[in-house]
Amino acid sequence: MRIVLFGPPGAGKGTQAGLLSEKYGAAHISTGDILREAVANGTEVGLLAKSYMEKGELVPDEVVIAIARAKLESIGEQGFLLDGFPRTIAQAQSLDAALKDIAKPLEAVVNLKVDNDELVRRLSGRRVCPACGEPYHVDSKKSAIEGKCDKCGGDLVHRADDQPEAIMNRLNVYDKQTSPLLGYYEQSGILKNIQAAGDIKEVFRTIVAALGQ
Ligand code: AP5
Repeated sequence: MRIVLFGPPGAGKGTQAGLLSEKYGAAHISTGDILREAVANGTEVGLLAKSYMEKGELVPDEVVIAIARAKLESIGEQGFLLDGFPRTIAQAQSLDAALKDIAKPLEAVVNLKVDNDELVRRLSGRRVCPACGEPYHVDSKKSAIEGKCDKCGGDLVHRADDQPEAIMNRLNVYDKQTSPLLGYYEQSGILKNIQAAGDIKEVFRTIVAALGQ
């Protein structure tokens, strides 16, 4: 399985990648999670990425491409689900080139379609576990114990970029810089559009059916 989960902030990429990873045993690779870990650890990459991420801007291509390539190399032969990468044409071209080198092209790009009002509702109410990356929602996906992660017991947080101003900027950045990738993948014939406004399990079933696996 070599799949990209695509869609605007809050579309459910991380949520669905987690479920698909459990079902198929593929590695869930989230550039957002890798960057947040770098920020938390105060690494050189983290210090550079922090100001971009807080404002909801994209981190420069060369930084993110290097991170994604290193991660893909580290998983070896295992299948993968890319979540939040690629986000620009330059990133997509770099990914294609890396996969061409090993003769393992992408199988599908799953585009999660959700309208903007619902995206804002999801992002405003999201809580995440910084330790394992598991996403929750104050209404639609509550943890069993309030404020604690069901998977690892970590303390849930409200992401800095899930504040109103950063959410609006992220949605604009998606429209301007990332949505043009839909045309790129449509041309290559691997784009699968999924109506992702339903509940989490329903969306999951639709993706599994679309993948035909
Ligand atoms: P990143 O972490 O990738 O954020 P994002 O793309 O903005 O996506 P989100 O994590 O916000 O949303 P999601 O689609 O995963 O939704 P989720 O499943 O959590 O990136 C953060 C930042 O890092 C970027 O802004 C940028 O600065 C930088 N970055 C990362 N990658 C980069 C790259 N390639 N290039 C440059 N910069 C990069 O769900 C959201 C909420 O909705 C949750 O609360 C969830 O419980 C709920 N929910 C999910 N599905 C449903 C449903 N079906 N029904 C109801 N609620 C649902």
